[in-house]
Amino acid sequence: MAEAGEAEDRPFSIIIFGASGFTGQYVVEELARVAEEEGMAGSLTWAVAGRSKEKLEMVLKQAAEATGKDLSDVGVILANVNDNQSMDAMCKQGKLLLNCVGPYRFYGEQVVRACIENGCHHVDISGEPQFLEGIQLNYNEKAKENNVIVIGACGFDSIPADMSVVFTKKKFPGVLNIVESFMAIQTGPKGGKGHFTTYQSAIYGFAHSDELPKLRQKFNYKPLPKYTPRLKKRGAIFYNEKTKKWCTLFPGSDVSVVRRSQRFLYENNDERPVQYGAYFEIGGFFSLMVLLFFGIIFAFLAKFSFGRKLLEKYPKLFTGGGFSHEGPTREQMDGTTFSFVLNAEGFSAGADNDQTKHDVTMVTKVTGPEPGYVATPIMMVQAGLVILSEKDNLPASGGVFSPAAAFSRTRLIERLDKRGIKFSVVETALPSKE
Ligand SMILES: NC(=O)c1ccc[n+]([C@@H]2O[C@H](COP(=O)([O-])OP(=O)(O)OC[C@H]3O[C@@H](n4cnc5c(N)ncnc54)[C@H](OP(=O)(O)O)[C@@H]3O)[C@@H](O)[C@H]2O)c1
Repeated sequence: MAEAGEAEDRPFSIIIFGASGFTGQYVVEELARVAEEEGMAGSLTWAVAGRSKEKLEMVLKQAAEATGKDLSDVGVILANVNDNQSMDAMCKQGKLLLNCVGPYRFYGEQVVRACIENGCHHVDISGEPQFLEGIQLNYNEKAKENNVIVIGACGFDSIPADMSVVFTKKKFPGVLNIVESFMAIQTGPKGGKGHFTTYQSAIYGFAHSDELPKLRQKFNYKPLPKYTPRLKKRGAIFYNEKTKKWCTLFPGSDVSVVRRSQRFLYENNDERPVQYGAYFEIGGFFSLMVLLFFGIIFAFLAKFSFGRKLLEKYPKLFTGGGFSHEGPTREQMDGTTFSFVLNAEGFSAGADNDQTKHDVTMVTKVTGPEPGYVATPIMMVQAGLVILSEKDNLPASGGVFSPAAAFSRTRLIERLDKRGIKFSVVETALPSKE
């Protein structure tokens, strides 16, 4: 693929925008750790960007202390989302921008616009389906014209889900029809929590969720083939007999992202689309009651402007300490891990629409460190490095893509494995030969 704009001449391979944010700090640290190891050593120049010089310098100082790396060559760029000129000037300096400025529904579009108009590839970690799908609807053509790659959802939302469906499909001994994923987060003795901005994104995402079907109609998609057996519809809350845990439908972007990728791979590569359901493991009955208590209050308040203000003002109170302005401590992050178990079902031989019973099952798994601020920076940085280093394995021209649409032929999974995010096959059950 030809370089976007005059990217070869740009001073920075990567710009981390929003580096002064809670997540941005850890993205800076992760890039500091891996930049030297890249084959591009020496040529991988990078910069941090944001609206406060003092904060950005502090970020670099902290990152140098945390990683033991000399970051004195890292550039500092001042840019504000509300100032188009500063945004254009920033994007002209980089080949690729890692965008950590959220909530994306408030700030994301201006960044995508500036990247596309100035020939700079764009990666974000949004988990907001309305933002992600809206960007695809409104910017895909322009990104294609300018040969700029825009990929959203490159964090915990939704790389484990999207890439694990691709992984499972590659490993499946036959034709894969259905995948159901069960996500679980294990915290250590110090517990765990999320940072305020993710919670704020969830408040507004929930408040505007009824706008999503109208947005989807605008794509005028042709319906995908209806393969059987159909994915079983699960209730909002259900008991998983296998794991003996209560579960709920995962409310993030995983289903939206995986469906977009499966559609892309069907329409562009003629791959059979996989039906996908995403669930979150709550745990025992007490955890279920706690979640219901906070969930019902959240769902009620998020629908009104006054309620949203209350939710925003008292994040700890309304999430039982689950989210705060301070975010998790490094100790809490060190003690936290995630697992993503995928139950896959399909056919051992030539599937067609008449097939009514699966005869092959497979269980695959993704595991990794703390999802929000350890695994997400790893995934975001590796997504960016793949764009810069594996052009031949990416779609032939620019555009707005979901992760697996862009990365299904790349070495992203291998790269993640080296950084501690592991994809594996747990078991396979084939039909007996008798
Ligand atoms: N996919 C995932 O799993 C995942 C994981 C983690 C985070 N996220 C998402 O990442 C986003 C960031 O989260 P966070 O917790 O890091 O948020 P945060 O701490 O509030 O950081 C927000 C960043 O945006 C910057 N910013 C805000 N307004 C700006 C403007 N007008 N111009 C330029 N910069 C501006 C802030 O700069 P100042 O420092 O100058 O205020 C800060 O650097 C959220 O949308 C969150 O949901 C996703």
